[in-house]
Amino acid sequence: TLTAGEKAQIVNLWAKIAPQANDLGAEALERLFLSFPQTKTYFSHFDVSHGSADLKAHGGKVLNALGNAASHLDDLAGSLSSLSDLHAYNLRVDPGNFDLLSHTIQVVLASHFPSEFTAEAQAAWDKFISEVSKVLTSKYR
Ligand code: HEM
Repeated sequence: TLTAGEKAQIVNLWAKIAPQANDLGAEALERLFLSFPQTKTYFSHFDVSHGSADLKAHGGKVLNALGNAASHLDDLAGSLSSLSDLHAYNLRVDPGNFDLLSHTIQVVLASHFPSEFTAEAQAAWDKFISEVSKVLTSKYR
C-alpha cells in the first residue's frame, strides 16, 4: 500500500501530466514498441508510426486510466475492476509486459518533468504503476 507521502507524489505529478495525457501516452507507447518490439503483437491493428492518431488516442486512454486510479488510491481494485476483466479475459496480455510499459512511462515522465520527477517521485510512481498492474493482472486464473 502507498504511504501518504507517496500518494501526494502521485496526485501532484498527475496534475502536470493531465493536460498532455495524449501526447505523453503516445510517447510511452512509441518507446514501448521501439524498445520492446514483441509488445507490438497486441496492437497489430494499430498504426504505430510516430505521432499516429492511434498512438495518441490509446496513449491518452492508458494515462487517463492511471489518472483515474490516482483519484481512487484507496480503492484501486474496485476502481480498476472492469479494466482488469478486459486485460485478463479479453486481451490476455502477458503480465510481463506491464513492467515494460511501467518502464517506458517512467522514461517519459523523467524526460518531460526533470525537476518534478525526483528520485522520491520516481519511487512513488514505480510503486503506483506496479499496484495498478497487479490489479490488471489479478484475474488471469
Ligand atoms: C486497452 C489501460 C497495460 C494492451 C486498454 C484500455 C485502457 C488500458 C484504459 C482501453 C479500454 C477500453 O477501451 O475500454 C492500461 C493500463 C495499463 C495497461 C492503465 C498499465 C498500466 C497494457 C499492456 C498491454 C496492453 C502492458 C500490452 C502490451 C492493451 C490492448 C488494448 C488495451 C491490446 C486494446 C486496444 C484497442 O484495440 O483499442 N488498456 N493498459 N495494456 N490494452 Fe491496456
